[in-house]
Amino acid sequence: EKDGYSSFMLKEINEQPLAVEQTLMGRLDQHGNLMLDELRIDESILRSVDKIVVVACGTAAYAGQVAKYAIEHWCRIPTEVELAHEFRYRDPIVNEKTLVVAFSQSGETMDTLMAVRHAREQGAKVVSICNTNGSTIPRESDAVIYTHAGPEIAVASTKAFLSQIAAAYLLGLYLAQLRGTKFPDEVREVLRELQEIPAKIQTVLDAGGEVTDLARRMSDAESVLFLGRHVGYPVALEGALKLKEIAYIHAEGFAAGELKHGPIALVEEGQPVFVIVPSPRGRDSLHAKVVSNIQEVRARGAITIVIAEEGDEAVTPYANEVIRVPQAPVLLAPLLTTVPLQLFACQLADSKGYDVDQPRNLAKSVTVE
Ligand code: BG6
Repeated sequence: EKDGYSSFMLKEINEQPLAVEQTLMGRLDQHGNLMLDELRIDESILRSVDKIVVVACGTAAYAGQVAKYAIEHWCRIPTEVELAHEFRYRDPIVNEKTLVVAFSQSGETMDTLMAVRHAREQGAKVVSICNTNGSTIPRESDAVIYTHAGPEIAVASTKAFLSQIAAAYLLGLYLAQLRGTKFPDEVREVLRELQEIPAKIQTVLDAGGEVTDLARRMSDAESVLFLGRHVGYPVALEGALKLKEIAYIHAEGFAAGELKHGPIALVEEGQPVFVIVPSPRGRDSLHAKVVSNIQEVRARGAITIVIAEEGDEAVTPYANEVIRVPQAPVLLAPLLTTVPLQLFACQLADSKGYDVDQPRNLAKSVTVE
């Protein structure tokens, strides 16, 4: 049932083109307009929403962080992302104008379920983004957008993560369509580009041999740092989480801009640092800033592993390794840049002889608070 893969996790990483394709399927008409029939919440309510709060745990919360950048940009709706177990215990400001979006692969995470219940008690509408039909969180939500990633067996989430991002983007694009957007051309372009993403994920997977070699060479690493900026920041957090979860290596993700405010003190000779580089075609010179971060850590002896777009030559002078991903709109990049980090963690854990699918101390769904 692993289809010849050494683990379910590796199989599920390789299923991501299909998982994302299935999540998009049936939700775009032939003119590229978005239909979200399952969003059974009155349009007048969706128009009056003045705040979105994402609640989730673990990897799902990082998908929420990615979604925040997109939803705030396209829809101009203030969007907070909160760990579900923190949300409920701090008297959050939630009311009839709040849309709570619960991300959960299993639909059974108790912390997330309790946050959903709390939000509804305050009068908020709840949409869940879930991968498991008929599970508890969707049943207790006002509406559900299913990610059609197929069953995810490995404890460490991979294809559910990419599908959650895709589903959240559909929600954001739908709200932009419904409420109007300052960027109608961009919204149209993203809808078109989303359909190219499964093939681009496949391109990243096809080049995965390089990442496997790297993981084998780095299997003695004791600590790995991940830097990213904008949507690359939650990708960095996710890359670090994967390594902790299954390879038991100390790993930290940082916002690249934070480097000089602290984390650079950690960098010494031989420290591996992954850097997720934003597209050079993006706004606000973020690309140049991240390239200088690579330079800064390299100058202090770091081994830099850089994830950059095809054709981005500015990174090469400071990179020990470059992993290429196809070009894509800035907000869609996480659907590509996450993939090598998943593969890296999976192959590194495998080369250490660990049980990749059943990491110690973790459970696939945590149904206690
Ligand atoms: C954790 C799992 O306990 O729960 C993670 O080990 C997962 O992989 C998190 O991201 C949230 O789970 P779910 O099912 O709510 O998305």
